[in-house]
Amino acid sequence: MAISIKSAREIELMRESNRMLGEMHNELAKLIKPGVSTLDLDRAAAAFIKDCGCVSNFLNYDGYPANICTSVNEEVVHGIPSKERILKEGDIISIDAGMIYKGYHSDAARTYGVGRISEELTKLIDETRNSFFEGIKHAVAGNHLYEISNAIADYIEPFGFGIVRDLVGHGVGTSLHEEPQIPNFHMNRKGPMLRAGMTLAIEPMIALGRGDVDWKEDDWTVVTQDRSPAAHYENTILITDGEPEILSLVD
Ligand code: MF3
Ligand code: CO
Repeated sequence: MAISIKSAREIELMRESNRMLGEMHNELAKLIKPGVSTLDLDRAAAAFIKDCGCVSNFLNYDGYPANICTSVNEEVVHGIPSKERILKEGDIISIDAGMIYKGYHSDAARTYGVGRISEELTKLIDETRNSFFEGIKHAVAGNHLYEISNAIADYIEPFGFGIVRDLVGHGVGTSLHEEPQIPNFHMNRKGPMLRAGMTLAIEPMIALGRGDVDWKEDDWTVVTQDRSPAAHYENTILITDGEPEILSLVD
């Protein structure tokens, strides 16, 4: 299967789906504080998605049982919201979410500190986000995919953080996961050439320790093997002939 190039109409729908998702992230961010459960966040997301006239693209994906993913501390991604999981001061939490608007998928993730967090965790979160912005400097039509991957890896490695290699970014559009896969680690293979109209979810997942991961008993929650905390930052972007457009980021 080739990488899909979205038409002008499809790009409008991708913009709208992702703009609403960006707004939802901004609303969910306001709820992050000690005492809140990850299920509270899932419920808020479900209500927001419904108000947008959308549906969650995570719910029932391969049997995934919730609307969003909430991953705390050593959980990297795909943490399942639960009323038992109560946020406490000093935790970090990654919220990964998406929705489907008129058949078009959005996908974005953010990591937050709960109350006051340590300096090293602040740095982990900030540099994970910064690595996304380094990567997308190379996300221009005519470049090859590996320039994004290599820019992310080159940015993260000097910090000594661990890059998660078992999960990667991806194309996104009429499905949550489309071609191509987008690694956050060094690639020698150039991969496909980027073309205007591609919509891609770029999503570095970075651990304070090593990047090796395990799956928990629930078969979803991805945790670092060394149980070091991890951060995740993701946006859906549109490739253009100039700078990429970040579709899921709303100020
Ligand atoms: N948002 C994830 C990704 O970036 C997918 C979540 S898996 C799901 O690809 F099952 F929760 F949908
Ligand atoms: Co994604």
